[in-house]
Amino acid sequence: MNRILAFCFLATLLLAGCVSNQTSTPTLDEVFASRRSIRAYEAGRTISEAEVRELLTATQNAPSWANMQPSKYYVAIGQEKREAVLELIGGNKERVINAPVLIVSTFETGKSGFFRDQPVDATGDLWGAYDNGLSNAYLILKARAMGFDTLIMGMRNAEELRALFEIPEKETVLAVIALGYRAEDPNTPVHRPLDEVVKFY
Ligand SMILES: Cc1cc2nc3c(=O)[nH]c(=O)nc-3n(C[C@H](O)[C@H](O)[C@H](O)COP(=O)(O)O)c2cc1C
Repeated sequence: MNRILAFCFLATLLLAGCVSNQTSTPTLDEVFASRRSIRAYEAGRTISEAEVRELLTATQNAPSWANMQPSKYYVAIGQEKREAVLELIGGNKERVINAPVLIVSTFETGKSGFFRDQPVDATGDLWGAYDNGLSNAYLILKARAMGFDTLIMGMRNAEELRALFEIPEKETVLAVIALGYRAEDPNTPVHRPLDEVVKFY
């Protein structure tokens, strides 16, 4: 009898675990709705290297031109590097000063859009930038699904970031992405009317 009771107790626990997991995982639409550019972060909260690894592993699912995977990431998670990056993002510094992680994204030039070192069309390295943007889209959405918040920053000193992380010349430095926990209730921006940006034929 005791064994049966113990079994029922364990089964209930397992079932409760499954149900709570299901309800705690946001749907894609919930991620889209709650993801916003965050310009104030909770102080004193940390994100572990393991969590950033999980985030960037998911980001690797992003498609890329001929699967070239040109995106690269430089993660400032230690205090010294994080403080150094804060000095290289202009007016963004105050917005992300409490974000525990700052990630520099780059792409390797001459890969996406190239065959035997020649651009396949006039788009050239714009395909690499395209791939990096896609990859960063995965990053910010996965971050939200993990309960984190982000700010993509194009206002940054690319050449000083290159020096700070010893980024090779063959990489183009694009955005810095802040990762942390929101300390503001952001407004949802007004989106352009769909028919202004989409044409059906
Ligand atoms: C490529 C790029 C560069 C951006 N640069 C900055 C920046 O330097 N500083 C900033 O506060 N926001 C920056 N943003 C955030 C945009 O302002 C923001 O995405 C836009 O206003 C829409 O708001 P939402 O992200 O909350 O939907 C950037 C976004 C992108 C995609």
